[in-house]
Amino acid sequence: MEARKKIWEQVVWTWKPETEREAGDSIVRNILLHWFPARVALRSLSYSYSFWLGTISAVLFLILSITGVILMFMYVPSVDQAYQSVKDIEYAVSFGWFLRGLHRIAAHLMVAVVFFHMVRVFLTAAYRNGTAANQNRPLNWIIGIVLLLITLLLSFTGYLLPWDQLAYWAITVGTNIARAAPLVGESIRYLFLGGNEIGQSTLLRFYVLHCFFLPTLVLLLFSWHMWRVRKDGGLACVDQLALKQKRENVTPIKTKTYSLLGLARGRTAQVETSLINEDEHTVASSPNLTRRLLLVMLATLFISSALTFIARAPLEEPANASVTPNPAKAPWYFLWLQELVTDTTFKIGEVTINGALVGGILVPGVLIILLTVWPYLDRTSVNAVGGWFAKERRRQNAVFLFIVLTILALTIVGTFLRGTYWDFYWPWQSWPEMPKKF
Ligand code: HEM
Repeated sequence: MEARKKIWEQVVWTWKPETEREAGDSIVRNILLHWFPARVALRSLSYSYSFWLGTISAVLFLILSITGVILMFMYVPSVDQAYQSVKDIEYAVSFGWFLRGLHRIAAHLMVAVVFFHMVRVFLTAAYRNGTAANQNRPLNWIIGIVLLLITLLLSFTGYLLPWDQLAYWAITVGTNIARAAPLVGESIRYLFLGGNEIGQSTLLRFYVLHCFFLPTLVLLLFSWHMWRVRKDGGLACVDQLALKQKRENVTPIKTKTYSLLGLARGRTAQVETSLINEDEHTVASSPNLTRRLLLVMLATLFISSALTFIARAPLEEPANASVTPNPAKAPWYFLWLQELVTDTTFKIGEVTINGALVGGILVPGVLIILLTVWPYLDRTSVNAVGGWFAKERRRQNAVFLFIVLTILALTIVGTFLRGTYWDFYWPWQSWPEMPKKF
């Protein structure tokens, strides 16, 4: 039995440090692992608190960076060659279809996962400070909002690169929404496109933003995001535990078992207040955190790869400014906005009230501003920070969920139920064949 267990352990490579010191050293001596604390609260490793959505977002970004750099060796950012180079990747390069498909699936998944990570953070009030000193979770929430916007922009700029009909018209529709912004709309669109129409300057702008500028920003902001999580004393669910132990008058242990880098002596004020009984409620990061991290990484890679096989990346005809598809749709994550624009466009007699300003600018603008300032307006007490479905947050969680579900519903309508001339069609109804518009 013992021998069989040993063989199994050798097969699955189970790392079992003999001492606390060995476990701690394996974290602080490793360049990749040293940004984790030597010990973590058992609670924060739970799958059902965070669903590991932030980590999954980071893994998707890693997959995107690796596949993206390989694609860069083959892609040519020129209107004359872009389409052909993507066609070559898809049909001529060995496993090129897989590389392109994985990059595309990971990009779509990242938009969705980052969004749901934000939803999780809101519902658990993890943007609020607990009782520990030096916390600034509202700031980390704002860094998160910027990360979400950059993720959308990253995906949007990548959309144009294949230079096919799908790409060209999705970007046309997407950038037309910006036009409705009062005073600055036209200038922003001009700056973004590098002219009045989508052309070579647009492709080059999107290429540089997509391959260099935005990924670098994500990397910098992500590092700041993670550093803040550590400065805030770990995930917010740990604060719940500290509060409970304080209420129960649990006696704090006198010494810290393993100090950071071996330099810090004693307990900082932050550690003192944020976590009380370390021995009972924390585990060594290596192998407990590292093993879960590896599992989440492998699962993310496996699911993204499986989806790549199931949903092959589309490549339509080359971009053609004079052939307008009907309907022309923005990328799926902006379809709720396109749908809103339609729903807020009214005809009163001969006058048409265009919904682009309300649906395309005002609603998303107000939502972004509200999200940014919410941690400072919210009066949730420390009792509800880091827990799911707190009673005192019932009303605001319900309003937030209502907005999230509306966005999801509008996205589904825009994606699946809108046909020619943006008319509504049930899935079982077929659209009339439209002659191509020249
Ligand atoms: C590229 C996008 C993002 C990445 C890679 C990322 C990554 C992470 C990771 C790895 C964590 C640790 C816990 C977890 O896995 O849930 C985390 C926590 C956190 N994230 Fe993000 N995040 C991103 C976007 C966002 C967004 C959009 C928001 C909110 C607007 C946000 C707000 C937070 C907050 C407040 C925490 C602390 C949560 C807690 O204490 O429970 N992040 N993030």
